[in-house]
Amino acid sequence: MGFLEWATSPWGQSVPIHIAWFLIWVAAIAGLLFLIVHATWLRYFAGKKEFVSDASPEIVARIPKHVPRHSLVARAFHWIMAASMLTLLFTAFLPKVGVQFNWVTYHWIAGAVLTVAILFHVIHASFWLDFWSIWPDRIDVEDAWKRVRRFFGMPAPPPRKFAKYPLENKLFHGVIILCGLSVIFTGVFMMFRVRTIFFPRNPYLFSDMTWGLMYVLHGLAGVGLIALVMMHVYFGLRPEKLPITKSMIFGWMDRDFYLEEHDPKRWVVETVSSSSLSNGGDTASRASTSSSRGLSDAG
Ligand code: HEM
Repeated sequence: MGFLEWATSPWGQSVPIHIAWFLIWVAAIAGLLFLIVHATWLRYFAGKKEFVSDASPEIVARIPKHVPRHSLVARAFHWIMAASMLTLLFTAFLPKVGVQFNWVTYHWIAGAVLTVAILFHVIHASFWLDFWSIWPDRIDVEDAWKRVRRFFGMPAPPPRKFAKYPLENKLFHGVIILCGLSVIFTGVFMMFRVRTIFFPRNPYLFSDMTWGLMYVLHGLAGVGLIALVMMHVYFGLRPEKLPITKSMIFGWMDRDFYLEEHDPKRWVVETVSSSSLSNGGDTASRASTSSSRGLSDAG
């Protein structure tokens, strides 16, 4: 049983044509196992999350009731990407597991939407959002080491609270980038193999071997995305993560949740002014005491 399917080219060369489709089930079962092990661990074994000392009462008092987390543009991107990603997964893999329909057209249309959405996201995140907020920093690495030591019962001080994104989310984003860019780069070339509105069909653009390897990479990254999307949806639906999911719909999260998990020094948000504090401390007048980095974080 091989991981790839092979064929013989007109010149008698043995070339890979795509991955073996049983890998769809391998990815789905791996995703399911992860969910079961994680849910069991959290339900029966994990202790309460512990962080190093809290923010000062003055800082806490200045955090608005609704902490802005995702701008409208960032949320629109997220849901367009989610819709195109799910369409790509279902159109690619349903036919391979026996549900036959004319999938290629829907697939390349969703692929084009994802490609444009990701191009937009890269520009938006580089110039309008806080680009570095999604990449691991030195504190993440130090804290990860503390968390590992504490996990194994070794002495270590508690970690700091998170910046805008915990290390796990940053690593997940990194893996998604790898798989996402792989399907996009290969997918754009694979559009030359089918009829689209973008360019004339040209199956002779590459050698059989190059095409074969391209289909293999497309398939491998594609099945990887099955497991990754399962994990992402699972975390989005977990009760303790619902405030985060809610923030991807409404754009903000509650002050209590923000203070429980996030360090106001690492994720600086717009704070309410003392005059509005004396008025009840919610929205109307906000003094921007945050750095420009913090302000763009709120986008
Ligand atoms: C979640 C992301 C994606 C997954 C899971 C996925 C999966 C797949 C799979 C399994 C195939 C069948 C390949 C084969 O027969 O070996 C395929 C074909 C194809 N994909 Fe994707 N793909 C994704 C994203 C994309 C993107 C972003 C594009 C375009 C930019 C794209 C364009 C194509 C095209 C044109 C084909 C048809 C190739 C042909 O029939 O010759 N895909 N995809």
